[in-house]
Amino acid sequence: MQPYVPGEQPPAGARVIKLNTNENPYPPSPRVAEAIAAELTADAATGTPGERLRLYSDPAASALRAVAAEQAGLPIECVLHGNGSDELLAMIVRACVGEGETVAYPYPTYVLYETLARAQGAQLAVYDAPSDFALPSALFTTDARLIFVASPNSPSGVRYPNEQLERLARGRPAALVVVDEAYATFADGDAMALVGELPNLVVLRTLSKSHSLAGMRVGLLYGPAELLRGVAKVKDSYNLDRLAIAAGAASLRDVAWTASNVARIRGARQRLLSGLRALGLEVLPSEANFVFARFASAAAAAAAYRFLRDQGILVRYFPARMLDDGLRITVGTDDQVEAVLAALQARPTVS
Ligand SMILES: Cc1ncc(COP(=O)(O)O)c(C=O)c1O
Repeated sequence: MQPYVPGEQPPAGARVIKLNTNENPYPPSPRVAEAIAAELTADAATGTPGERLRLYSDPAASALRAVAAEQAGLPIECVLHGNGSDELLAMIVRACVGEGETVAYPYPTYVLYETLARAQGAQLAVYDAPSDFALPSALFTTDARLIFVASPNSPSGVRYPNEQLERLARGRPAALVVVDEAYATFADGDAMALVGELPNLVVLRTLSKSHSLAGMRVGLLYGPAELLRGVAKVKDSYNLDRLAIAAGAASLRDVAWTASNVARIRGARQRLLSGLRALGLEVLPSEANFVFARFASAAAAAAAYRFLRDQGILVRYFPARMLDDGLRITVGTDDQVEAVLAALQARPTVS
């Protein structure tokens, strides 16, 4: 099998504009560093900083799940924690798919679904999206055990209406539908209202994007308690460390900080979208913190990718079917958006 290849992570201190892995350009809430410092504070008894790290972290990550559950208006049993949402995706596949059973998802989407399904010895049912990147109709008749739907999807940025997600889950009662909402905080709506309404639908969230905590690794899964108990059977006992639990809870609590950064990114997204269109590129409307811009040809997209790289601007190029004529560009700060637009304007023409 092919390994999942993450976007390039340049060494610390490298002078690049990093718009290739959909990280948040703004720092996390100051409450996060305070919570980490508090977790490392010396206990009165011993006076040694970091003393608490001697003990294992809470396997149930209750301090984090309690905040997440309260904000979602759900009981704590309806929230499960992961070391990033990637770990929850891996747990879902391990817990729900037997060898030879089928995992379904639209194409294109998040590449890790394929990697995880293959590692499990599962069959793949992959359905090509139509040209507007809507949900492929064949997905609604799949006989898969597990259906992944990233919404908003990557790299298109397209969000699927709740009515379609509900129809998918109701029409396939023997399947588990995972709505991967890594980017939903940047969108005009989300599927959280469906959690608890349907026995076979779960919603996956991450603090990596909207909460600026990609380096802390915190993911959250929302769904029926019985289902999550099943998924948790394959969880590593101490999958979140003490600092991640404290950081995640503090970050969730600072609702105003997240809302303000999300508003800035949504504003910059509009500027990036219209700037790219003014350069003559075809850009899908995006509800995520990235946009997918299409060039005249695969050669033109690849050349633009290399040109931007030479200028110190990293974006994502997927040399794959249906995607090789485009670039996925993360929405950065206003200045970063201006820089990528100026660089694209200055690029040599390739037809
Ligand atoms: C659709 C989607 N799901 C999940 C993830 C994983 O996020 P994390 O493991 O950082 O929570 C990503 C990351 O890029 C993503 O694009």
